[in-house]
Formats: sequence, structure tokens, C-alpha cells
Amino acid sequence: MPADLNPIDKAKFVAAKRAVDFVEDGMKLGLGTGSTAAWMVRCLAERVREEGLRVTSVATSSRTAQLATSLGLTVRSLDEVRWLDLTIDGADEFDPDLNLIKGGGAALLQEKIVATASDQMIVIADAAKEVSRLGAFPLPVEVIPFGWQTTKALIEETLVAMDVMTREATLRMSGESPLVTDESNYIVDLHLGRIGNPRQLALVLNQIPGVVENGLFIDICDIVVIGAPDGRVSVRDINTGKVIDEQIHFAPTDNIFADLD
Ligand code: A5P
Repeated sequence: MPADLNPIDKAKFVAAKRAVDFVEDGMKLGLGTGSTAAWMVRCLAERVREEGLRVTSVATSSRTAQLATSLGLTVRSLDEVRWLDLTIDGADEFDPDLNLIKGGGAALLQEKIVATASDQMIVIADAAKEVSRLGAFPLPVEVIPFGWQTTKALIEETLVAMDVMTREATLRMSGESPLVTDESNYIVDLHLGRIGNPRQLALVLNQIPGVVENGLFIDICDIVVIGAPDGRVSVRDINTGKVIDEQIHFAPTDNIFADLD
């Protein structure tokens, strides 16, 4: 394993590498966003290069589209491809039912559309993302810029009736300005501490005018692949209940690391 990768990156890398084993020739794939998903894109590009695998990809962000294209992957729009076999993405948190919080990288809207348009979703993560209850990670909510302060106030009002520990909502900034998503929206992060009923919260948030989508992914993820820095991976399938523990072997000289700074 490359000595210069930190332990978290090693864990993310092995999870990504194992998840890419699920990809079969001819598949239509959703490519997630974030640092773990970036490892997956590199691992996928390596399989395409070395095995001549033919895959069509749909990216969940402009960042991922750029990385995938730069590594030689074919990237199409979701409207061209319409339905996908498999999406592989990271997550900010996952619980025992494989419900997720996503959107730390501000790509939750495209991520949810793409994952929902897929027969199967695999989440790749290091063990730190596993929680018994969602909510320690701030829940991102994508809102349209028009009247965002009113939308934020409505969200706060709605939270009063929800089973959560804390109720702070903050507009996500990029320097001095609000962060703008790929779909030209803003993100309001909800600091909730613990979410008692994620399914209810996801439904209620999406009823508020001005809310485009929230970062709770309920009943969307099928499999989680959890990586450890020493190369161990655990593959958990929520549909079959199976858990498989494996060891990933790779050499420090793998091509995969060639394009890293
Ligand atoms: C992007 O919007 C997010 O949903 C990411 O998938 C999530 O934040 C995980 O990112 P990392 O893999 O960088 O932790």
C-alpha cells in the first residue's frame, strides 16, 4: 500500500476498489461525488483501461464529470441514458438500515436523482461514516435562492415538531458568498445532533416551498462497502442481510496512483 496515503484515504481506496468489482461489461453507471467517489472513478478507469470494459457513465456533479472524462471514461447525461444499472457513491453517514446523509459535497440533488434512477446503489465509506442514528453530520437541504431566508425560517419552524436533538440551520458559504450548487441553488445545513425519524423528516422537509431536496437517502442504498486502512473490507447487503469480510491486496506501484499529485 502506498506509504504516502493517509489511513483514511487507504480505507476509502480499498472500499472503492472492492465496489468497482460489482461493475460488469456493458453496464450503465452512476458516478458519485466526493473524495471516496473520486477513488472509485480512478479504480473504474483502471478496469476500463486494463480489461477493456465498456461502460457508460452518468456523473452526479460537474467535478466528477471532469475527473471521469480526464481519465478516459465516457460520460453521458442522465437524459441520454435514462436508467442505470448501478450507482456507486460515498456518504456522510449511514445507519444500520443503510439510510444515509449525503450532500457534504453539495451534490445531493443530482446524487439522489441518479441513485433513484439506478437498479442498485452501493455506498463506499470508511468506518467513521457508520452511525447508530443519523444526525451528527449536518443535514444538507438544497433550496432555491429566491426567498431563501423565508425558506430557512419555514424549515426552522418545521423542525420544532420533529424528533431531533438540536435545531440550528445555517446557510452554507463559499468564502464571503453563499455556496452555489451545480443546479444554481443554495444549501442550508441543519445541525440536528440526532434524527429520531429520518423517513418522516425527509418527507416533511420536501413539503416546504423553496426546498428542492434534502440529503436524507431513505431506502435507496442496497449495499455498503466499508474499507479499513489495512486493506480489510466489509460488504453488507441490506436486501439479503449478508455481510462478507474480505482483504484487498494491491501494490504500491498500481497505475491507479500515477495521476495523483
Ligand atoms: C457529496 O455531495 C456527498 O454526498 C459525498 O458523497 C459525501 O459528502 C461523502 O464525501 P467523502 O467521500 O468526501 O467523505
